[in-house]
Amino acid sequence: GGRPGGGRRLLGFEPVGTSDTDEFLVPDGYQAQVLIPWGTPIRPDGPAWRKDGGNTAEEQAEQIGMNHDGMHFFPLGNHREGSRRGLLVLNHEYIDQELLFPDGPAEMTEEKVRKALAAHGVSVVEIERRRDGSWERVDSRRARRVTGDTPVEFSGPVSGDHPALRAQGRPRGTLNNCSHGVTPWGTYLACEENWNNYFGTTDESWQPTPTQERYGVSASGGGFDWHLADSRFDLAANPNEINRFGWIVEIDPQRPRSAPVKRTALGRVKHEGCTVTESRGRVVAYTGDDQDGDYIYKFVGEGNWRFQRARGRSPLDHGTLYVATFQDDGRGRWLPLVFGEGELTEANGWQDQADVLLRTREAADAVGATKMDRPEWITINPKNNDVYCTLTNGSGWGNAVNPRDPNPYGHIVRWSERNGDHTATTFEWDIFVLAGDPAYDPQVELDEGNRFGSPDGVWFDPDGRLWIQTDVSNSSQHLASKGYDNIGNNQMLAADPETGEIRRFLTGPRGCEITGATATPDQRTLFVNVQHPGESTTHWGEANHENPRAVSNWPDFDPDGRPRSATVAITRLDGGKIGA
Ligand code: FEO
Ligand code: CA
Ligand code: CA
Ligand code: CA
Repeated sequence: GGRPGGGRRLLGFEPVGTSDTDEFLVPDGYQAQVLIPWGTPIRPDGPAWRKDGGNTAEEQAEQIGMNHDGMHFFPLGNHREGSRRGLLVLNHEYIDQELLFPDGPAEMTEEKVRKALAAHGVSVVEIERRRDGSWERVDSRRARRVTGDTPVEFSGPVSGDHPALRAQGRPRGTLNNCSHGVTPWGTYLACEENWNNYFGTTDESWQPTPTQERYGVSASGGGFDWHLADSRFDLAANPNEINRFGWIVEIDPQRPRSAPVKRTALGRVKHEGCTVTESRGRVVAYTGDDQDGDYIYKFVGEGNWRFQRARGRSPLDHGTLYVATFQDDGRGRWLPLVFGEGELTEANGWQDQADVLLRTREAADAVGATKMDRPEWITINPKNNDVYCTLTNGSGWGNAVNPRDPNPYGHIVRWSERNGDHTATTFEWDIFVLAGDPAYDPQVELDEGNRFGSPDGVWFDPDGRLWIQTDVSNSSQHLASKGYDNIGNNQMLAADPETGEIRRFLTGPRGCEITGATATPDQRTLFVNVQHPGESTTHWGEANHENPRAVSNWPDFDPDGRPRSATVAITRLDGGKIGA
């Protein structure tokens, strides 16, 4: 090893090759253990998993949900104890209704909607490392499911009796929780991404408002068809229910009976994640709005977050929401989305700050934010405060920060806030890496040891290794016409942010994406998620309720089973730090 200047080598493993097998593959000297697949009871005495998809809604509500995504390990006890025991908190982004119900989704029923809601949301489970080094889910008073049906509260400018929130019944549930965040005070943030897909209507007189159009709300919805069996999701019968979605949701894993709180001051978009840090005592939260041509936001808290909490106020309820502009000269600026400032005045049709937040995308349009190629996860380099954001792929927007037009592979942009201060309103940016395959795009500086496309999850470990996870859509995967035929299954790579070196660390089974990354404090166990193994592809065929194993049968390989999303715990045979 040895780097210029004698620095320690950051990446110490041999890269793995690309893969198209139905296996989860790690480098030599590493091992992987499957933990809490979909349907695992969150407590040891809970309802057992039924491999035919036959668990009821009530049972699903006491089991791990489907499609694991963003995740954090909250250690319990001191550094040493906390590397052996902790709370694993993870999102269940969405569901595959072909795999969730024994007879598939064809006929939507009330019971199916209830089970679908129960398979969404967040799981909190306690896990412990055994003497032999493996991890197990243990009994815990903190074990909990938050689902699409859990009572929730609202805070910030859109809360209380706000007319936009008046709908059937009290506010319940969180849906489409993609990436996540963790606050300095130890709470978990679940982020609502493609919430528009759950709503629809057969009422032909229904028309979307301009705001609903901007968020992609439509009468046909995203194919879940819940509105056919439950008027809660009917856009005409229950028009304001949809305003209760699109928010950042705070969950306290230490208080299993506390209600999740939707923090409306952070805006309403298709939140990929919410990456929280602090500068000069103030809380700062970055969030990407994952849609082609949408924006990157940050929230800067008002005043010192410790003082706020001491006064009984949430630091996430008071502050300024900004949206990013990336100039072609490598500089950038954060523009405030504040009622009464700039374009966001009464004369221009804005009513108040709640109105600005309910229509965050339109407010960002009005101030002239920079269109991006699908902003996904955001992470911060612990060594120098640089901020990294994955832009997974897009159609190209004719600006320097999204340099390919179109951009089927995606890239990672990074920026330095002025003086390394996250509360600053100006920054300088550059592109860390253009993803892709040099066989199709000569600008790409990758090879067989690190070719990848459609970066999604990104996470800095405490040593400053940048972990990159991919989510190549299965509708385009393995199509030479899209240039993905040499890239293989979705994967995770590690990068050295100083040298730019990147190595492929693992590959997932067929049809999955790799997402979620968190480690024990000693960095000797890395947890990642395998989401939607067996998702239908044009390459291997179509998995459905009649043939759920058409694409993948990971991780059980049970001839009568079905593929299951799961967490994987990765350790080194020699017990060393992951990646080193
Ligand atoms: Fe749910 Fe943007 O990935
Ligand atoms: Ca994602
Ligand atoms: Ca995905
Ligand atoms: Ca994605």
